[in-house]
Amino acid sequence: MHHHQMKALVLSGGAGTRLRPLTYTGAKQLVPVANKPILFYVLENIAAAGIRDVGLVISPETGQEVMESVGNGSRWGLNAEYILQERPLGLAHAVLTAKDYLKASPFLMYLGDNLIGCRVRGEVEQFLQDESVSAAIFLKAVQNPRAFGVAVTNGDGQVVDLVEKPVNPPSNLALVGIYLFRPEIFEAIDHIHPSARGELEITDAISWLIKNGRRVESHIIHTWWLDTGKKDDLLLANDTVMDDWLKTHIAGSVDAHSQVTGRVHIDDGAQLIRSVVRGPVIIGAGAKLVEATIGPFTAIGPGVLIERSTVDHSVIMEGCHIRDIARLENSVLGRRVKVCPTSTPHGAISLMVGDDCVIEVRG
Ligand code: TTP
Repeated sequence: MHHHQMKALVLSGGAGTRLRPLTYTGAKQLVPVANKPILFYVLENIAAAGIRDVGLVISPETGQEVMESVGNGSRWGLNAEYILQERPLGLAHAVLTAKDYLKASPFLMYLGDNLIGCRVRGEVEQFLQDESVSAAIFLKAVQNPRAFGVAVTNGDGQVVDLVEKPVNPPSNLALVGIYLFRPEIFEAIDHIHPSARGELEITDAISWLIKNGRRVESHIIHTWWLDTGKKDDLLLANDTVMDDWLKTHIAGSVDAHSQVTGRVHIDDGAQLIRSVVRGPVIIGAGAKLVEATIGPFTAIGPGVLIERSTVDHSVIMEGCHIRDIARLENSVLGRRVKVCPTSTPHGAISLMVGDDCVIEVRG
Protein backbone atom coordinates (compact mmCIF):
# COMPACT_ATOMS: atom_id res chain seq x y z
CA MET A 1 0.00 0.00 0.00
CA HIS A 2 1.38 3.39 -1.01
CA HIS A 3 0.58 6.84 0.27
CA HIS A 4 0.16 8.80 -2.94
CA GLN A 5 -0.72 12.05 -1.25
CA MET A 6 2.47 12.02 0.86
CA LYS A 7 5.96 12.99 -0.29
CA ALA A 8 9.38 12.70 1.33
CA LEU A 9 12.06 15.37 1.42
CA VAL A 10 15.60 14.19 2.08
CA LEU A 11 18.19 16.79 2.99
CA SER A 12 21.37 15.72 1.28
CA GLY A 13 23.10 19.04 0.78
CA GLY A 14 24.94 20.91 3.53
CA ALA A 15 28.63 21.48 4.07
CA GLY A 16 29.66 18.53 6.26
CA THR A 17 32.51 20.50 7.83
CA ARG A 18 32.69 18.22 10.86
CA LEU A 19 33.44 15.21 8.71
CA ARG A 20 36.39 16.69 6.85
CA PRO A 21 38.53 15.53 5.12
CA LEU A 22 36.03 12.91 3.89
CA THR A 23 33.62 15.63 2.80
CA TYR A 24 36.21 17.46 0.67
CA THR A 25 35.90 14.74 -1.92
CA GLY A 26 32.44 13.37 -1.35
CA ALA A 27 28.98 13.91 0.07
CA LYS A 28 28.57 13.35 3.80
CA GLN A 29 25.40 11.35 3.14
CA LEU A 30 27.31 8.88 0.95
CA VAL A 31 29.85 7.95 3.62
CA PRO A 32 29.48 4.19 4.06
CA VAL A 33 28.17 2.52 7.21
CA ALA A 34 28.68 -1.26 6.99
CA ASN A 35 29.73 -0.66 3.35
CA LYS A 36 26.47 1.06 2.40
CA PRO A 37 25.91 4.83 2.07
CA ILE A 38 23.98 6.32 4.99
CA LEU A 39 21.57 7.83 2.48
CA PHE A 40 20.53 4.36 1.28
CA TYR A 41 19.29 3.43 4.77
CA VAL A 42 17.27 6.65 4.73
CA LEU A 43 15.71 5.79 1.34
CA GLU A 44 14.92 2.24 2.53
CA ASN A 45 13.07 3.66 5.50
CA ILE A 46 11.09 6.06 3.30
CA ALA A 47 10.12 3.23 0.94
CA ALA A 48 9.14 1.07 3.94
CA ALA A 49 6.86 3.88 5.13
CA GLY A 50 4.83 3.47 1.93
CA ILE A 51 5.99 6.74 0.34
CA ARG A 52 6.84 6.74 -3.38
CA ASP A 53 7.79 10.31 -4.25
CA VAL A 54 11.02 11.60 -2.78
CA GLY A 55 12.74 14.91 -3.40
CA LEU A 56 16.43 15.10 -2.56
CA VAL A 57 17.88 18.49 -1.68
CA ILE A 58 21.42 18.61 -3.08
CA SER A 59 24.29 21.09 -3.06
CA PRO A 60 26.31 22.32 -6.06
CA GLU A 61 29.43 20.65 -4.59
CA THR A 62 28.17 17.11 -4.05
CA GLY A 63 24.85 17.00 -5.93
CA GLN A 64 26.27 15.19 -8.95
CA GLU A 65 27.63 12.37 -6.82
CA VAL A 66 24.31 12.01 -4.96
CA MET A 67 22.39 11.89 -8.26
CA GLU A 68 24.76 9.28 -9.66
CA SER A 69 24.38 6.95 -6.69
CA VAL A 70 20.62 7.28 -6.16
CA GLY A 71 19.57 7.67 -9.81
CA ASN A 72 15.81 7.70 -10.38
CA GLY A 73 15.24 5.81 -7.12
CA SER A 74 13.77 2.73 -8.80
CA ARG A 75 16.13 0.47 -6.85
CA TRP A 76 13.95 1.21 -3.81
CA GLY A 77 10.70 1.45 -5.76
CA LEU A 78 10.92 5.23 -5.35
CA ASN A 79 10.44 8.07 -7.76
CA ALA A 80 13.38 10.38 -6.97
CA GLU A 81 13.70 14.01 -8.01
CA TYR A 82 16.42 16.52 -7.21
CA ILE A 83 16.24 20.03 -5.83
CA LEU A 84 19.33 22.21 -5.95
CA GLN A 85 20.00 24.36 -2.91
CA GLU A 86 22.65 26.87 -3.98
CA ARG A 87 23.95 27.47 -0.45
CA PRO A 88 23.49 25.61 2.87
CA LEU A 89 21.39 28.32 4.51
CA GLY A 90 19.64 26.03 6.98
CA LEU A 91 17.09 23.23 7.22
CA ALA A 92 14.13 25.61 6.88
CA HIS A 93 15.81 27.20 3.86
CA ALA A 94 16.11 23.73 2.31
CA VAL A 95 12.34 23.24 2.81
CA LEU A 96 11.66 26.61 1.19
CA THR A 97 13.85 25.66 -1.77
CA ALA A 98 11.70 22.55 -2.24
CA LYS A 99 8.39 24.46 -2.25
CA ASP A 100 7.70 23.93 -5.96
CA TYR A 101 8.37 20.23 -5.58
CA LEU A 102 6.30 19.72 -2.42
CA LYS A 103 3.35 21.85 -3.56
CA ALA A 104 0.37 21.16 -1.26
CA SER A 105 1.47 17.68 -0.12
CA PRO A 106 2.05 16.68 3.46
CA PHE A 107 5.65 15.41 3.68
CA LEU A 108 8.13 13.40 5.69
CA MET A 109 11.38 15.31 6.06
CA TYR A 110 14.45 13.22 6.76
CA LEU A 111 18.02 14.45 7.28
CA GLY A 112 20.20 12.46 4.91
CA ASP A 113 22.90 11.77 7.50
CA ASN A 114 20.66 10.36 10.26
CA LEU A 115 20.20 6.69 11.00
CA ILE A 116 17.54 5.17 13.24
CA GLY A 117 16.94 1.57 14.27
CA CYS A 118 13.18 1.53 13.54
CA ARG A 119 10.61 2.12 10.82
CA VAL A 120 8.29 5.15 10.76
CA ARG A 121 5.29 3.79 8.84
CA GLY A 122 2.89 3.86 11.81
CA GLU A 123 3.67 7.50 12.57
CA VAL A 124 3.29 8.47 8.90
CA GLU A 125 -0.15 6.83 8.75
CA GLN A 126 -1.28 8.44 11.99
CA PHE A 127 -0.20 11.86 10.66
CA LEU A 128 -2.09 11.38 7.40
CA GLN A 129 -5.25 10.44 9.27
CA ASP A 130 -5.33 13.30 11.77
CA GLU A 131 -5.41 16.59 9.89
CA SER A 132 -5.68 18.56 13.11
CA VAL A 133 -1.96 17.88 13.66
CA SER A 134 0.13 20.52 11.92
CA ALA A 135 3.53 18.87 12.39
CA ALA A 136 5.10 15.91 14.17
CA ILE A 137 8.67 15.48 15.34
CA PHE A 138 10.64 12.42 16.38
CA LEU A 139 12.45 12.59 19.71
CA LYS A 140 14.99 10.50 21.53
CA ALA A 141 16.06 10.68 25.19
CA VAL A 142 19.79 11.48 25.27
CA GLN A 143 22.53 11.90 27.89
CA ASN A 144 23.81 15.24 26.56
CA PRO A 145 20.80 17.32 25.44
CA ARG A 146 22.97 20.48 25.34
CA ALA A 147 24.33 19.35 21.97
CA PHE A 148 20.91 19.12 20.27
CA GLY A 149 17.59 20.76 19.61
CA VAL A 150 15.49 19.89 22.67
CA ALA A 151 11.69 19.57 23.00
CA VAL A 152 9.34 19.95 25.96
CA THR A 153 6.13 17.94 25.73
CA ASN A 154 2.95 17.87 27.80
CA GLY A 155 1.37 14.70 29.19
CA ASP A 156 -0.34 13.96 25.86
CA GLY A 157 2.84 14.03 23.80
CA GLN A 158 2.06 17.44 22.35
CA VAL A 159 5.12 19.67 21.92
CA VAL A 160 4.87 22.87 23.95
CA ASP A 161 8.38 24.28 23.51
CA LEU A 162 11.55 23.83 21.45
CA VAL A 163 15.05 25.12 22.21
CA GLU A 164 18.14 24.84 20.06
CA LYS A 165 21.30 23.66 21.93
CA PRO A 166 20.12 24.83 25.39
CA VAL A 167 22.62 25.69 28.15
CA ASN A 168 20.05 24.53 30.72
CA PRO A 169 18.11 21.79 28.94
CA PRO A 170 14.41 21.81 29.88
CA SER A 171 14.23 18.07 29.06
CA ASN A 172 16.47 15.27 27.78
CA LEU A 173 14.44 14.80 24.58
CA ALA A 174 16.54 15.60 21.52
CA LEU A 175 15.13 16.16 18.04
CA VAL A 176 15.99 13.27 15.78
CA GLY A 177 16.35 14.50 12.18
CA ILE A 178 12.92 13.22 11.09
CA TYR A 179 9.82 15.41 10.83
CA LEU A 180 6.28 15.33 9.41
CA PHE A 181 4.88 18.55 7.96
CA ARG A 182 1.88 19.99 6.16
CA PRO A 183 2.06 23.01 3.80
CA GLU A 184 1.49 25.30 6.82
CA ILE A 185 5.22 24.96 7.46
CA PHE A 186 5.79 27.41 4.56
CA GLU A 187 3.71 30.00 6.33
CA ALA A 188 5.85 29.48 9.44
CA ILE A 189 9.11 29.77 7.47
CA ASP A 190 7.88 33.05 5.97
CA HIS A 191 7.73 34.45 9.49
CA ILE A 192 11.18 33.48 10.79
CA HIS A 193 14.58 35.15 10.45
CA PRO A 194 18.12 33.75 10.20
CA SER A 195 19.58 32.65 13.55
CA ALA A 196 22.86 33.80 15.09
CA ARG A 197 24.70 31.28 12.88
CA GLY A 198 23.01 32.78 9.81
CA GLU A 199 20.70 29.85 9.06
CA LEU A 200 16.92 29.57 8.74
CA GLU A 201 16.27 27.05 11.53
CA ILE A 202 13.53 24.46 11.27
CA THR A 203 13.16 24.58 15.08
CA ASP A 204 12.24 28.29 14.80
CA ALA A 205 9.61 27.45 12.18
CA ILE A 206 8.13 24.71 14.39
CA SER A 207 8.17 27.11 17.38
CA TRP A 208 6.20 29.57 15.26
CA LEU A 209 3.56 26.88 14.64
CA ILE A 210 3.31 26.21 18.39
CA LYS A 211 3.09 29.93 19.26
CA ASN A 212 0.33 30.33 16.71
CA GLY A 213 -1.82 27.66 18.26
CA ARG A 214 -1.10 24.79 15.87
CA ARG A 215 -0.75 21.25 17.16
CA VAL A 216 2.73 19.74 17.03
CA GLU A 217 2.91 16.09 18.08
CA SER A 218 5.94 14.10 19.19
CA HIS A 219 6.99 10.49 18.75
CA ILE A 220 9.66 9.19 21.08
CA ILE A 221 11.86 6.52 19.57
CA HIS A 222 13.22 3.81 21.82
CA THR A 223 15.77 2.27 19.47
CA TRP A 224 19.10 3.80 18.54
CA TRP A 225 19.53 7.05 16.70
CA LEU A 226 22.86 7.94 15.15
CA ASP A 227 23.87 11.24 13.66
CA THR A 228 26.93 10.51 11.56
CA GLY A 229 28.29 14.03 11.82
CA LYS A 230 31.75 13.26 13.24
CA LYS A 231 34.36 10.49 13.21
CA ASP A 232 33.36 8.82 16.48
CA ASP A 233 29.66 9.02 15.54
CA LEU A 234 30.49 7.31 12.27
CA LEU A 235 32.39 4.51 14.05
CA LEU A 236 29.51 4.09 16.50
CA ALA A 237 27.03 3.94 13.60
CA ASN A 238 29.17 1.29 11.94
CA ASP A 239 29.31 -0.77 15.17
CA THR A 240 25.58 -0.46 15.82
CA VAL A 241 24.41 -1.26 12.29
CA MET A 242 26.67 -4.31 12.06
CA ASP A 243 25.66 -5.45 15.54
CA ASP A 244 21.94 -5.22 14.73
CA TRP A 245 21.59 -5.96 11.05
CA LEU A 246 24.60 -7.85 9.69
CA LYS A 247 23.91 -11.40 8.57
CA THR A 248 26.42 -14.09 7.73
CA HIS A 249 26.90 -14.35 3.98
CA ILE A 250 30.01 -15.79 2.40
CA ALA A 251 30.29 -15.30 -1.35
CA GLY A 252 34.04 -14.68 -1.60
CA SER A 253 36.77 -17.26 -1.10
CA VAL A 254 38.21 -18.32 2.24
CA ASP A 255 41.30 -20.54 2.03
CA ALA A 256 41.90 -23.56 4.27
CA HIS A 257 44.37 -21.61 6.43
CA SER A 258 41.91 -18.83 7.26
CA GLN A 259 39.53 -18.71 10.18
CA VAL A 260 36.17 -16.91 10.21
CA THR A 261 34.10 -16.61 13.41
CA GLY A 262 30.96 -14.68 14.34
CA ARG A 263 28.76 -12.86 11.83
CA VAL A 264 30.81 -12.13 8.74
CA HIS A 265 29.62 -10.91 5.34
CA ILE A 266 32.09 -11.49 2.50
CA ASP A 267 31.13 -10.19 -0.92
CA ASP A 268 31.77 -11.83 -4.23
CA GLY A 269 35.35 -11.89 -5.43
CA ALA A 270 36.83 -11.09 -2.01
CA GLN A 271 39.69 -13.36 -0.91
CA LEU A 272 40.89 -14.40 2.52
CA ILE A 273 44.35 -15.91 2.51
CA ARG A 274 45.86 -17.19 5.80
CA SER A 275 43.73 -14.61 7.64
CA VAL A 276 41.64 -14.47 10.81
CA VAL A 277 38.30 -12.61 10.76
CA ARG A 278 36.18 -12.11 13.89
CA GLY A 279 32.68 -10.77 13.25
CA PRO A 280 30.82 -8.62 13.00
CA VAL A 281 32.82 -7.76 9.92
CA ILE A 282 31.86 -6.90 6.35
CA ILE A 283 34.29 -7.32 3.46
CA GLY A 284 33.51 -5.73 0.10
CA ALA A 285 33.77 -7.17 -3.40
CA GLY A 286 37.29 -7.87 -4.61
CA ALA A 287 38.97 -7.07 -1.28
CA LYS A 288 42.03 -9.17 -0.50
CA LEU A 289 43.27 -10.07 2.96
CA VAL A 290 46.64 -11.75 3.24
CA GLU A 291 47.83 -12.86 6.69
CA ALA A 292 45.51 -10.27 8.18
CA THR A 293 43.61 -10.26 11.47
CA ILE A 294 40.36 -8.33 11.13
CA GLY A 295 37.58 -7.35 13.54
CA PRO A 296 35.43 -7.21 15.40
CA PHE A 297 33.32 -4.25 14.17
CA THR A 298 35.17 -3.51 10.97
CA ALA A 299 33.94 -2.62 7.50
CA ILE A 300 36.41 -3.29 4.69
CA GLY A 301 35.37 -1.62 1.44
CA PRO A 302 35.56 -3.06 -2.07
CA GLY A 303 39.00 -3.61 -3.55
CA VAL A 304 40.88 -3.07 -0.27
CA LEU A 305 44.19 -4.89 0.17
CA ILE A 306 45.35 -5.72 3.71
CA GLU A 307 48.61 -7.58 4.17
CA ARG A 308 50.20 -8.81 7.41
CA SER A 309 48.21 -6.34 9.52
CA THR A 310 45.65 -6.26 12.34
CA VAL A 311 42.60 -3.98 11.99
CA ASP A 312 39.63 -3.64 14.36
CA HIS A 313 36.77 -1.19 15.07
CA SER A 314 37.39 0.65 11.83
CA VAL A 315 35.90 1.79 8.55
CA ILE A 316 38.30 1.15 5.68
CA MET A 317 36.89 2.54 2.45
CA GLU A 318 37.25 1.41 -1.14
CA GLY A 319 40.71 0.81 -2.58
CA CYS A 320 42.79 1.28 0.59
CA HIS A 321 46.07 -0.59 1.04
CA ILE A 322 47.29 -1.50 4.52
CA ARG A 323 50.57 -3.35 4.79
CA ASP A 324 52.65 -4.58 7.77
CA ILE A 325 50.82 -2.57 10.43
CA ALA A 326 50.90 -4.23 13.87
CA ARG A 327 47.55 -2.79 14.97
CA LEU A 328 45.16 -0.25 13.51
CA GLU A 329 42.01 0.51 15.51
CA ASN A 330 39.23 3.12 15.84
CA SER A 331 40.17 4.43 12.43
CA VAL A 332 38.29 5.83 9.47
CA LEU A 333 40.22 5.69 6.21
CA GLY A 334 38.80 7.43 3.14
CA ARG A 335 39.10 5.94 -0.33
CA ARG A 336 42.49 4.74 -1.65
CA VAL A 337 44.43 5.56 1.53
CA LYS A 338 47.74 3.76 1.90
CA VAL A 339 49.20 2.88 5.33
CA CYS A 340 52.55 1.12 5.56
CA PRO A 341 55.73 1.15 7.67
CA THR A 342 58.25 3.91 7.08
CA SER A 343 61.01 3.20 4.61
CA THR A 344 63.38 5.90 5.87
CA PRO A 345 66.55 4.27 7.32
CA HIS A 346 66.29 6.34 10.54
CA GLY A 347 62.63 5.43 11.12
CA ALA A 348 61.16 8.90 10.62
CA ILE A 349 57.45 9.14 9.82
CA SER A 350 56.83 10.14 6.24
CA LEU A 351 53.42 11.49 5.25
CA MET A 352 51.56 12.58 2.16
CA VAL A 353 48.12 13.67 3.43
CA GLY A 354 45.51 16.23 2.41
CA ASP A 355 43.90 19.00 4.45
CA ASP A 356 42.27 18.38 7.85
CA CYS A 357 43.48 14.81 8.27
CA VAL A 358 44.05 13.52 11.81
CA ILE A 359 47.07 11.30 12.38
CA GLU A 360 47.77 9.73 15.76
CA VAL A 361 51.13 7.98 16.05
CA ARG A 362 53.41 7.07 18.95
CA GLY A 363 55.08 10.40 19.84
P1 TTP B 1 23.94 19.52 9.53
O1 TTP B 1 24.64 18.32 10.03
O2 TTP B 1 23.26 20.37 10.50
O3 TTP B 1 24.94 20.44 8.70
P2 TTP B 1 26.10 20.12 7.68
O4 TTP B 1 25.85 18.93 6.84
O5 TTP B 1 26.33 21.38 6.93
O6 TTP B 1 27.35 19.66 8.57
P3 TTP B 1 28.46 20.45 9.44
O7 TTP B 1 27.72 21.00 10.61
O8 TTP B 1 29.45 19.36 9.81
O9 TTP B 1 29.08 21.47 8.55
O10 TTP B 1 22.87 19.11 8.42
C1 TTP B 1 21.97 18.05 8.59
C2 TTP B 1 21.63 17.46 7.24
O11 TTP B 1 20.94 18.40 6.43
C3 TTP B 1 22.83 17.03 6.43
O12 TTP B 1 22.52 15.83 5.77
C4 TTP B 1 23.04 18.14 5.45
C5 TTP B 1 21.64 18.67 5.22
N1 TTP B 1 21.55 20.12 4.98
C6 TTP B 1 21.03 20.60 3.78
O13 TTP B 1 20.68 19.82 2.88
N2 TTP B 1 20.93 21.96 3.61
C7 TTP B 1 21.30 22.85 4.57
O14 TTP B 1 21.17 24.07 4.36
C8 TTP B 1 21.83 22.34 5.81
C9 TTP B 1 22.27 23.27 6.89
C10 TTP B 1 21.94 20.98 5.95
